[in-house]
Amino acid sequence: MMTSYKELGLVNTKGMFKKAMAGQYAIPAYNFNNLEQLQAIILGCAESDSPFILQVSSGARKYANQTLLRYMAQGAAELLKELNPHLRFTLHLDHGDTFELCQSCVEAGFSSVMIDGSHLRFDDNITLTKKVVEYAHPYDVTVEGELGVLAGIEDDVEAAKSIYTQPDDVEEFVGKTGVDSLAISIGTSHGAYKFKPEQCTRNEQGVLVPPPLRFDILKEIEKRIPGFPIVLHGASSVLPKYVEIINHHGGSLKAAVGIPEEQIRQAARSAVCKVNIDSDGRLVVTAMVRKTLAENPAEFDPRKYLGPAREELKQMIIEKNKNVLGSAGKGKEIFG
Ligand code: G3H
Ligand code: 13P
Ligand code: ZN
Repeated sequence: MMTSYKELGLVNTKGMFKKAMAGQYAIPAYNFNNLEQLQAIILGCAESDSPFILQVSSGARKYANQTLLRYMAQGAAELLKELNPHLRFTLHLDHGDTFELCQSCVEAGFSSVMIDGSHLRFDDNITLTKKVVEYAHPYDVTVEGELGVLAGIEDDVEAAKSIYTQPDDVEEFVGKTGVDSLAISIGTSHGAYKFKPEQCTRNEQGVLVPPPLRFDILKEIEKRIPGFPIVLHGASSVLPKYVEIINHHGGSLKAAVGIPEEQIRQAARSAVCKVNIDSDGRLVVTAMVRKTLAENPAEFDPRKYLGPAREELKQMIIEKNKNVLGSAGKGKEIFG
């Protein structure tokens, strides 16, 4: 049975991206897999009056059950009406890998989907992405495509270079597919280990400093498709504060390094309209659960250790919205 996202009070990304582009900020896209992450996102974005995108990966659908997750998102929309009545959000499929998965999400009430054909040959990526766009657009569901492959820690530097998005490809891809936004590869990657230590330098405090993002490629892309919304995946900063808490309390995250927040801020001022953040939230939750349990070894009520994790995650989201994305306080302007 088909549920339109409009019945759920959700929005697609179109209006948000238009405002973000004009206002030189970016919309945060936060992933969730469970109740506490969902609460932190809703509470943090409601309190900072930030438009936002709630992201669900296929892994999240498997973990939490796709039906339950979909109703959790519907519940979140209802809660948001109580907390911040004018604010709206987009429910987005993150890294959809098949047409059928995108179709199933549209039918379930998602207002936006990503079809990630970045690993395919250029022509095959176009064919698959176009098929999803042709299906989704009649329902007013927006579609994100991807060109270029995000580097993995296993890739050597040369391989990483060769998979940056080629500016020469973007106009043809966007024109032929009809996508609403484009994820690009300019040096970010997924997870907590975005660079090898040998790719980094050390600052005076001994902290690893990664090579800068390829803003030159971003600029070239902006020239080829002016005013077109760009998406940055792998944009967590891997905040040292939380890595230290994890390691201090029995964890073992060695040489974890992310994208410095100043660079995400810089990207948010450009055509980058959507910034994906998942790992930073995972690190906060892990840090707070480890710390709370270490300090309270007799505790066995999950609310007592997940509660502080949820609160810290909410604060991190408020900080990101205010100081990194620049999206805080924009809810009224877009939806008010
Ligand atoms: O880009 C991937 C997101 O962080 C989701 O990760 O597939 O482990 O849910 P996941
Ligand atoms: P991070 O792993 O940097 O949080 O990236 C998340 C992401 O891109 C989700 O699609
Ligand atoms: Zn991603």
